[in-house]
Amino acid sequence: MSQAELQNLATASRAQTLSKLATSRLGTARLSAAGWQIDLSRHYVSSEADSALLALAEQKSLEQATANLFAGKIVNPSEGRPALHWALRAPSPAGDDAQRVRDSALEALDVARKVRSDEQIRAIVHIGIGGSDFGPRLFADAFAESQDPNIELRFCANLDPLDLELALSDLDPATTLVVGISKSFGTEETLYNLSRARDWLKAELGDAWPTHMALVTANPTRASTWLEGGDATLLHMPESVGGRFSIWSAGSFACMIGLGPDVFEAFLAGAAEMDAHVQTTPLAQNAAMRLALLDYWNASLLGFQARAVLAYSRRLRMLPTYLQQLEMESNGKAVSPTGEAITQATTPLLWGGEGTIGQHSYHQWLHQGTQDVPTEFILAPGSLDDADGVTGLTAHALAQAEVLANGRSLADVQAQEPDLTPEIAAQKVHPGGRPSSFFYTSKLTPHALGALIALYEHRAYLAGVLWGLNSFDQWGVERGKTMAGQLKPALSGQGTADDPVTAALIAMIGR
Ligand code: F6P
Repeated sequence: MSQAELQNLATASRAQTLSKLATSRLGTARLSAAGWQIDLSRHYVSSEADSALLALAEQKSLEQATANLFAGKIVNPSEGRPALHWALRAPSPAGDDAQRVRDSALEALDVARKVRSDEQIRAIVHIGIGGSDFGPRLFADAFAESQDPNIELRFCANLDPLDLELALSDLDPATTLVVGISKSFGTEETLYNLSRARDWLKAELGDAWPTHMALVTANPTRASTWLEGGDATLLHMPESVGGRFSIWSAGSFACMIGLGPDVFEAFLAGAAEMDAHVQTTPLAQNAAMRLALLDYWNASLLGFQARAVLAYSRRLRMLPTYLQQLEMESNGKAVSPTGEAITQATTPLLWGGEGTIGQHSYHQWLHQGTQDVPTEFILAPGSLDDADGVTGLTAHALAQAEVLANGRSLADVQAQEPDLTPEIAAQKVHPGGRPSSFFYTSKLTPHALGALIALYEHRAYLAGVLWGLNSFDQWGVERGKTMAGQLKPALSGQGTADDPVTAALIAMIGR
């Protein structure tokens, strides 16, 4: 099917009434994968469009792309690498490279067991940024109650000096382990914070400071130089695992210690179950393929420029931030690996938050603002100990999705509230027609989180295949780093900025 034909189907789908279309899609737009139920009925996808999308998946060889990923083929052509994040969680991965990747995670789990049994360590300070931060931070927050009460876990990522100062405040270097995560071991923020932490350890421990430092990297040479010959714990982050796909790796060493290897292994097992689903389930029922097709459809053909992830789960309150990097760093691109411009819209702005908290904030905009934004409800209570709370959380998630889709017409408002003035009645109208997906699992366990994140990873990769881009590189973030390096001399009075606005801003800052 040509692009123009697909576009015609999209336009025709969008012209339909969402509530009616959704009712007609009931039962055919339901997926089940690794403990998650996913309902996609409330989207502008007619039955013809649905068939066309499945044909598109065949045409773009989504099944082959999945097979390529799991076979360790080069799926990151600009860096000439496979993407082996799945091997970190594979119980018995095929191939030497994949087995080495798996071993790196197993080694980290073993070392974590030893640190846990060492009663000397009472605090862990995790230092890293981007993919070396978001995942462990999400995991630690999600399962905070599993945290060993005798070990405090803190995170530091920001170049603002306060971040490290807060992370180290009141800690005793003699009972603290600093865990530095940097795949490249060249990231400015992480090296800055690590160096200050090194000074802090040195001041108290002298030459023994490296014994309170663990570094996780794909660049052990740089790390060893930085250690000045000191004997710190060095763990391996495989080159073939991208930062934003590294939550499964030794990069989560601090969580493996703090929350325990068993919790982490359950998380890996959930992801492995999702991997099996994605590898073996036929296209029509394959959750990652279906979601990738929907992402393509919503962004490139229906023109939705944003997607909101609304996590009705206290444990998932950091998920939108995590997914921002996963999806926007992976697919926020407009050029193919062969250098051609991609003319269609690619991945949208991803944002979101925690339900029901967001209902008292930006949901007003979602319901009655001037933009239609597809939303993704993720209902996954963290505790089932109080039925009233679970019922309330569930009712609110369902209600929000229903109102977004069906709206509330003026006639309904007037019939239900006949005493309203016309002015107020008009303001109570909800336009509706706002599409949403609904994800559900009965309880957000480590296993369920592993499955969910693995699903998003596969979805992002397969959406990238549909857009014809490389989801595993990130050239767009490099330019700003270079520019910051160029501006530093100007900030210390050694030179001037080329750009007049930047130069004026430097003068305003007064440095
Ligand atoms: O922000 C760019 C980036 O390269 C991310 O992709 C990565 O997760 C982050 O920096 C941190 O990189 P590293 O682990 O090498 O310090």
